[in-house]
This record gives sequence, C-alpha cells and structure tokens, in this order.
Amino acid sequence: MFKQLLDKVGLGHSPQQSAAPDYGNLDYHWMPSSGNRQFKANPRMIVGARGNYLIDDRGRKIFDGLSGLWTCGMGHSQPKIVEAIAAQAGQLDFSPTFQFGHPKAFQLAQRIVDFMPAGLNRVFFTGSGSESADTSLKMARAYWRKRGMASKTKLLGRIKGYHGVNFGGISVGGIVGNRALYGHAVEADHLSSTLLAENLFCRGLPEHGAHLAEQLEELVMLHDASNIAALIVEPMAGSAGVLPPPVGYLQRLRELCDKHQILLIFDEVITGFGRVGAATGAEAFGVVPDMINIAKQLTNGAVPMGAVVVKQTIYDTFMEQGGPDYMVELPHGYTYSAHPLACAAALASLDLLESEGMFARSAALAPKLEDAVHSLRDHPHVADIRNCGSAAGITLASYPGEPARRPFEAAMKLWDKGFYARYGGDTLQIGLPFTTSDDELSALIDAIGATLREI
Ligand SMILES: Cc1ncc(COP(=O)(O)O)c(C=O)c1O
Repeated sequence: MFKQLLDKVGLGHSPQQSAAPDYGNLDYHWMPSSGNRQFKANPRMIVGARGNYLIDDRGRKIFDGLSGLWTCGMGHSQPKIVEAIAAQAGQLDFSPTFQFGHPKAFQLAQRIVDFMPAGLNRVFFTGSGSESADTSLKMARAYWRKRGMASKTKLLGRIKGYHGVNFGGISVGGIVGNRALYGHAVEADHLSSTLLAENLFCRGLPEHGAHLAEQLEELVMLHDASNIAALIVEPMAGSAGVLPPPVGYLQRLRELCDKHQILLIFDEVITGFGRVGAATGAEAFGVVPDMINIAKQLTNGAVPMGAVVVKQTIYDTFMEQGGPDYMVELPHGYTYSAHPLACAAALASLDLLESEGMFARSAALAPKLEDAVHSLRDHPHVADIRNCGSAAGITLASYPGEPARRPFEAAMKLWDKGFYARYGGDTLQIGLPFTTSDDELSALIDAIGATLREI
C-alpha cells in the first residue's frame, strides 16, 4: 500500500484523494501530547514520508513545515541514514552499554565533539531530549557534591522554557500546561521570559531584553549562590513559540554564572545541528555554556537519541573523585543510551549535515523566511511574529479564555490544505526543512495567509 501511495504522490501531479482505510478501533493507543478525543473523531494518519513531505492515508503530499517535530531538517527517509540503520540492525541490533561498549558509540561521541564549541568534549548518551534535560540537571548537582559543595542543589530555569516532560525538566521548565497537573517536583526557580511588548514583530534577535539577565542576581540574592547548582535555558526557546534571545542576554547570563559559580546549561534539543544556521546556538550566539543538551536533529529524527555534552573539567571531576576504577563514577544511564541503531543513524546524519552544507542552507533560508513570515503581519488575528534561523513563530490573538483554540483551528485548516505546522499554546510554529525551496516557502506562507483569512 505504501508503494502505491508513493507512486500516487509522484512528482508533478496532484493525487486523487482516496477514502481513508479502516484502522479498526483507535481507542487503545493513548496518544502523547495530543487531543485524543478530537484526533480519534477526525484522524490524521501519516503513512509515509519522503524529503520535505509527509504522505497521509488518503495519498496526499503534505509539506512538512516543522521538519517532523524539529527533528528532520534534512528531509525524511534520507537514503544514507536508512542504509546505515539497516546495515547496523543486521550486524549488532542491541549492545549492553553498561560496563561494555560498541565501537560506534565511541566514534559518534568523537564526531559530535567536532560540532561543539571548544572545550565541550565529553558526551553522555540518552534516548531523548527529556532524558538529556534530566541527565544534565543530575550531573550538575552531582558535580558540585563531588567538588565538596553539596549544598548547591537548586536548579534555575526560565518562564516559557521547555526542557521536556520528565520531573527535572518540568521543574525547570516554565510552560504552565506541562506543570499544572503533576504537583511539586524538583526544587527550582525561574527567570522571566524574554518575551517583551517592546519586541513585538522584531526581525531576528530582539534589541530589548538583555537587562532581564540581571534577574539572575536577584535569584542569587534570594537563594544564595552556595545553594544554586545550575541555570538551564534554551538559547532560542522553541516550544514556547520561537523566542530568539535578546542581543547581549546570553552573554550576560554567562558572566553572571561565572561570577557565582553556577553551571550554565544550554538546552539545544531544537537549536542543535542547524536550526539557527550553525552547528549550535552556542556558536550562532557566541556564548559557550558548560553543558549542551542535544537530541532531535542528531539522527535527523530517524531513531530516538539524545546526549549531554560537557566540558572536560566536569568529566574529569567525576573521574578524579570516582574511587577505585571498577566503581561507577556516575550512577546514571539508560538501557537505550548509545543504542547501536541510533549511533549508526547519527553518524550518517552528521556526515550528511556536513557534506551537504546543511547549516549554511539553514542560514541562507533565514532572510527569506524572515521576509516571508513578516509579510503576514497585517493578516487577521496576528498578534506577533518572531523568527530566528529557519524557525518562526506566529502568535495569534486568542478567543476569550481559550488561548490554544485559534492556532489549533489554523493548524487543522493548514493540514486540509496540505501543510503541516505545529500549534503550541497561542502560537503557530514553523521549522522549515533546511532544503526548503523558494516555491515551497511561498506556498506555505500563502496557505497560512489564506488560513488566517478563513478562521
Ligand atoms: C528544548 C527542548 N528540550 C527538551 C525537549 C524534549 O525532547 P523529547 O521530546 O525528545 O523528550 C524538547 C522537545 O521539543 C525541547 O524542545
């Protein structure tokens, strides 16, 4: 059936829409981060993907305006990645990575370091962005304990920050919907969001807002540096609707973290490997943190994988304080850390990112996306537009008391028109495939414009 669908969506002709197959009872699958009731009443089934397009069960080609979930910047089903996974599955499908190793884990760690800022050169593998968040937070606490400063336990994040859905991540995260149901988790406090009225409709990095970094001084005055382990921020907040950092803001956070001996963690699960037109947000914005969390684009989304990359001094502290050499220096790790299929996919993905000049392609998209998305400024319901690299967020004015409804309605209309864009909170999010053509970008923006006039 998949082959028939692919034939149907072959180049140059619009496919006939066919009836959706019967999938039986959809009730058994509790879908993640989804309106289960709405979906099951009106399923949107994706049965294939090639390049910049998803293919639905009616044989429609749908432009993937969020690169999967910020995962597939190089487009779907990249043949070299597919081949690498298949070959690996036939050779070594799983390897116990506690106390044993497989070569690709070590090769991949070394390869990842090529893309990181100088000094961040030790790689701990996880299975996802959420696991990377919690791993980095645990490492930060353990690091200070190993250095004889066991009281440094408090974790700082930022309002509107997103660090996944595990307990550490939702504690430092600042998106209320992800926290409200779960009660008190890990001790944490937060900086303000960098979303300011003065920056509405700003193009690229906002001019105003560097002063918000000074709030770190206030949190230090409140909690005392001797109790604070780390600050975690996304260099560009993605899930809250694409919030680029104000000019000078990240630099000031770095200075204050140095001043107060607070570890600075960049959560680069979205910004890592091209989204902001460079290998990392650290590189794009010129600030080197102590740890970088990555996931998503690492394997081009083909196999789940994440990692935390740390400064060598952090790793060395664990080794020096590790006791006898047969002892585990950091009692932390996942069954699927450095899974062989993920390592194979990531090695192929990193090769392609480099050989195909993907960071430069993402950077080249930035001014085009900026012009295109800001052309929507005067459309109905548009309350703000932000852009950074190949990402953009369009905030829509809310229905009274229903902030998420209008972006949801817009995303559903877009889907009907053959375009996928994610909606989160009050914002439509765009994360273009790095290989997006001018025509594809125009078509997406036209479709968003038409949608805004219809809803
Ligand atoms: C910055 C950031 N951190 C963590 C995560 C969580 O990643 P995952 O969904 O792979 O657990 C995300 C996901 O979007 C993210 O954007």
